Amino acid sequence: MTTELDSIVGSARDAFAKAATPADLENAKAQFLGKSGRVTELMKGMAQLSVEEKKTRGAAINVAKQAIESALNERRQALADQELEAQLKAEALDVSLPGRLREPGGLHPVSLTMERIEQIFASMGFDVADGPEVESDWHSFTSLNNPPNHPARSMQDTFYVDIKGDDGIPYNLRPHTSPMQVRYAQAHVKKYEGREMPEVRVIAPGRTYRVDSDATHSPMFHQCEGLWLGENVSFKDLKVVFLDFCRTFFETDDLQLRFRPSFFPFTEPSAEIDIQFQSGPLAGKWLEVAGSGQVHPNVVRNMGLDPEKFIGFAFGMGPDRLTMLRYGVNDLRLFFDGDIRFLRQFR
Ligand code: DAH
Repeated sequence: MTTELDSIVGSARDAFAKAATPADLENAKAQFLGKSGRVTELMKGMAQLSVEEKKTRGAAINVAKQAIESALNERRQALADQELEAQLKAEALDVSLPGRLREPGGLHPVSLTMERIEQIFASMGFDVADGPEVESDWHSFTSLNNPPNHPARSMQDTFYVDIKGDDGIPYNLRPHTSPMQVRYAQAHVKKYEGREMPEVRVIAPGRTYRVDSDATHSPMFHQCEGLWLGENVSFKDLKVVFLDFCRTFFETDDLQLRFRPSFFPFTEPSAEIDIQFQSGPLAGKWLEVAGSGQVHPNVVRNMGLDPEKFIGFAFGMGPDRLTMLRYGVNDLRLFFDGDIRFLRQFR
């Protein structure tokens, strides 16, 4: 009898060992411990035995059953371990592999210039204003003393959009930041209505658009407008402010300024502002950096101010150009190509 039970336990062990998967193992278990498994059959076979025989036989069968169960559990554990090991192997990480470097980002060179311009003018008491890039005809031109059919309109090749304003004239992609002079001054007047109004002192940096494209022109470019209006603001103040700005921006006192007579509809008189470095790679050349002038009385009127009382100057400069001069870049298009090899040099 012992040998019979031993051989059942032995063949259970063999069957469990052969089971390669948990499902195989459960099938093998059924053969021994299931409803009609071999151990269960043995139990059923005890029915005819005497009470004494039942005791010894039952105990022996239980020992065998426990041996089979513990063999089963051992195999279950072994299979689970195997599975885990296979999974770990499949998901193996090579911790010696160098990680993928994520380079730190940085500001675009033109953004660096914009921030610099804002900081310098803010330190001189100028407000910094933002305005719409899709602009009405009145703001871009008419309010700036440049009415429809005026020849000065052809100074700028303007993009128009398919939306018409109340005046029936299409909106445009602003060709300059000058409309911000009027927008800001109007808002300023409104803000201080009925109170004593401080001088209007503002810069308005931003994107501008023209039908223009070559090494020094891009259809999208940047401008920064400046406006200073008060009861006693003159060209002398413009010269001081602009010279101070240029010397701070380029970090040199070795720099001269020159006003060259020019024409803009929104200023009278008007001047181009040129600068000249006295040393360095650009020394000796006059470089045009801004348009400027005394704000035209018609523009002052359109701002909602009395031109008999308010006088001052405006200027418009090109931050792209300033960036090229500051860093010695000779092709404007590099700023807009998005080539990381170029851009990372400014990080
Ligand atoms: N808006 C002019 C341009 O785009 C630049 C300019 C000239 C702005 C004279 C001004 C100014 O404010 O007074 O060419």
